[in-house]
Amino acid sequence: MSDQAKASSSSKLFLRALAGETLATPPIWLMRQAGRYLLEYRETRKQAGGFLDLCYTPKLAVEVTLQPIRRYGFDAAIMFSDILVIPDGLGQKVWFEEGVGPLLEPVTDLEALKKLDRSRVLGHLAPVMETLKGLKASLPSETALIGFAGAPWTVATYMVGGKGSPDQGAAKAWAYRDPDGFQVLIDLLVDVTGDYLEAQVAAGAEVLQLFDTWAGSLPARQFRRFCLEPVKRLRARLKKSCPDIPVIAFPKGAGAGYETYFRETGVDAVSFDTSVDPVWAADRLQPLGAVQGNLDPLLLVAGGSEMDRAIDHLLETLGSGPFIFNLGHGIVPQTPPEHVGQLVDRVRGKK
Ligand code: CP3
Repeated sequence: MSDQAKASSSSKLFLRALAGETLATPPIWLMRQAGRYLLEYRETRKQAGGFLDLCYTPKLAVEVTLQPIRRYGFDAAIMFSDILVIPDGLGQKVWFEEGVGPLLEPVTDLEALKKLDRSRVLGHLAPVMETLKGLKASLPSETALIGFAGAPWTVATYMVGGKGSPDQGAAKAWAYRDPDGFQVLIDLLVDVTGDYLEAQVAAGAEVLQLFDTWAGSLPARQFRRFCLEPVKRLRARLKKSCPDIPVIAFPKGAGAGYETYFRETGVDAVSFDTSVDPVWAADRLQPLGAVQGNLDPLLLVAGGSEMDRAIDHLLETLGSGPFIFNLGHGIVPQTPPEHVGQLVDRVRGKK
């Protein structure tokens, strides 16, 4: 059976859209659908203590993954974790500071890189696999299960910078000063991310998403070398080891680069950010495969008729091809939960 035939025989709308099917009602899920905008998340988060404790306690990670599914019946659940569990697994010091975000002990040269240990990652991330198994056992039969990782470039920006930064300056500095040295870090991340994603599939992930939040910060030449090429290699590896598992990539900010990226990486779908005109996405991206996006998370905060208009425009523009409704980036904490309910109802034709 072809991928499309297999997925079409599935009852899961999300898998059908990823296989290239055009659906009367597109599947919907939202990046960061589990998070601080939900009261029940904030309660479970308190119970867990630290943010990484929440990621590494399967019972609680399953609970927060299910919270938005219970409320809204999304078509897909994304396992609760974070992209920075990879550096943590490699032995880099990672911690989350309240009101600040992630902090890491920076890795800025080959000397520091040598201290990282690929062989400890899967053991360290065993709780993530338990989370996936727990989800597999408790999700409704129509809900698909997404595993994920950060793409190598974006994870590298945090590893090198030691924190989030507006311009990814530290990682760029290394990449420009010593491209071959920086490539060693990227290659390590390609390998370890491949190990990690294969383990997620073995534990029950049905779809994989690669988050490349800072793809938009690199000039064309470095974008090709450090964003496109690593994802292409990862995609090729996964095609061999788990041929039936679709891969979505989110190269946020890639602009016109989205098209080449989609063509050349061989991913099954791209998630396009808020800055991309949906008319352009329908014209240039959707002929290449399924597309996922791109309502502005801040329209979801505002709600009302502007949000409704934007939802309708997306449905009209992208509804005649394979389409997954999502945001252009993650839900922000100040989002009123009832606006999310309105969005889901409108996409499903109930309002
Ligand atoms: O619901 C889901 O989408 C699944 C869980 C998920 C989280 N982070 C939980 C989280 C996913 C897929 C991520 C991805 C992630 N993490 C990215 C890529 C996507 C993006 O948003 O750009 C990045 C860059 C990170 C790194 C990270 N984690 C940052 C920069 C922060 C701090 C910013 C913030 O929102 O606080 C985090 C923390 C984090 N990851 C939270 C959640 C729910 C909030 C922390 C908390 O509860 O205290």
